[in-house]
Amino acid sequence: MDHFLYRDGQLYAEDVPVADIAAAVGSPVYIYSTATLLRHFRLFDEALAWGPHLVCYAMKAASNQAILKTLAEAGAGMDVVSGGEYARAKAAGVPGERIVFSGIGKTRDEIRAALIGGVRQFNIESEPEMRVISEIASSMGVIAPVTVRVNPDVDAKTHAKIATGKSENKFGIPIAKARSVYAEAAALPGLKVVGIDVHIGSQLTDLEPFAMAYRKVAELTEVLRADGHEISRLDLGGGLGIPYTRSNEAPPLPVEYGAVVQRELGHLGCEIEIEPGRLIAGNAGILVSKVIYVKEGEGRNFLILDAAMNDLIRPAMYDAHHDIVPVIEAKAGAEQAPFDIVGPVCESGDTFAKGRMMPALGEGDLVAFRSAGAYGSVMASEYNTRALVPEVLVRDDQFAVIRPRPSFEDMINRDSLPEWL
Ligand code: LLP
Repeated sequence: MDHFLYRDGQLYAEDVPVADIAAAVGSPVYIYSTATLLRHFRLFDEALAWGPHLVCYAMKAASNQAILKTLAEAGAGMDVVSGGEYARAKAAGVPGERIVFSGIGKTRDEIRAALIGGVRQFNIESEPEMRVISEIASSMGVIAPVTVRVNPDVDAKTHAKIATGKSENKFGIPIAKARSVYAEAAALPGLKVVGIDVHIGSQLTDLEPFAMAYRKVAELTEVLRADGHEISRLDLGGGLGIPYTRSNEAPPLPVEYGAVVQRELGHLGCEIEIEPGRLIAGNAGILVSKVIYVKEGEGRNFLILDAAMNDLIRPAMYDAHHDIVPVIEAKAGAEQAPFDIVGPVCESGDTFAKGRMMPALGEGDLVAFRSAGAYGSVMASEYNTRALVPEVLVRDDQFAVIRPRPSFEDMINRDSLPEWL
């Protein structure tokens, strides 16, 4: 459930008409709902309330400072995957002990920065990385808390580009190798093993792959404990999917996910960490765009919007479906017709939907892409020298611009000319 609903025939973000925001800020514009962000965070928090836990928001999904601060103030930890994300978490006031550092290619500078600023744990993804963390921590005279990310070789049954838990993926170390890697970790200076990490993919709509992976983690916990390691923390990654269509999709709820975690791992007495991104931010954001032209093609009609693939790349990159709805609700029983919904970028891939049934729309009408809060704005680029879409956060009847639209001058002035020009 989210807080973007029609009232008296027009779409609202909480208590603010979406059209008012577009009038004030222009289009395209990303709009986020505070209530939805908090609701989703709390659903996870409550789903794990049966034991000690920390919900570490995977900020790769949406990393605006205002979003991070909203969640951090509610008690969220953060999952970061780069020095930039680590700096964002700190800037939003998240203490180091609530930041987990994931990612397969942490650089020496990133590791050093996190050890200086404080980190809950590094999720180690390879032996070379483990040795580098050991070397840096030792040279700084500190102890780095670590888990090893294991690859359980489980099919997450999701889009190939966002599955991570099969042996052919680049992530983690094969679970069969875990004992020897943990033995090396225990022997290296500057490291303290605190637990195990696993993440099998994103937009999972079935709990079974999670259950299979967590069962393997439970077995591994027993084995590693018998080997003398202290396994007190299990980081279970993110990945729970969201409904992208209103009508026919009902992915499992956080409470059902939490029950699977309890069933598979509850007996181990470990602190549980999870790293959800999409489920917290996805349905907490919409992308609002304006119709530039309605174009009649041969055998098909096009709705040409002022948003494009550079603003929301998910349809082009993952064939993702986003519901696209008019901001002014169509009258009940109004006729609909199929449209190809496209952006202005000079590529055929700049297509959001083909043959989508839409009510009659004309130049200047606003539409909203639903479920665009996660992996929307953060994956945007300035391709075609199109300005990054501004972001707005709504809370009850208030809204604030949390990232302004850059001017063309801002964009051009980021370049610099060499002396010879
Ligand atoms: N933890 C790790 C280690 C991850 O790699 C990811 C996502 C997450 C947590 C959060 O997963 P979530 O709860 O959001 O599913 N750009 C793609 C999604 C990429 C996900 C990458 N990793 C998309 O737009 O669908």
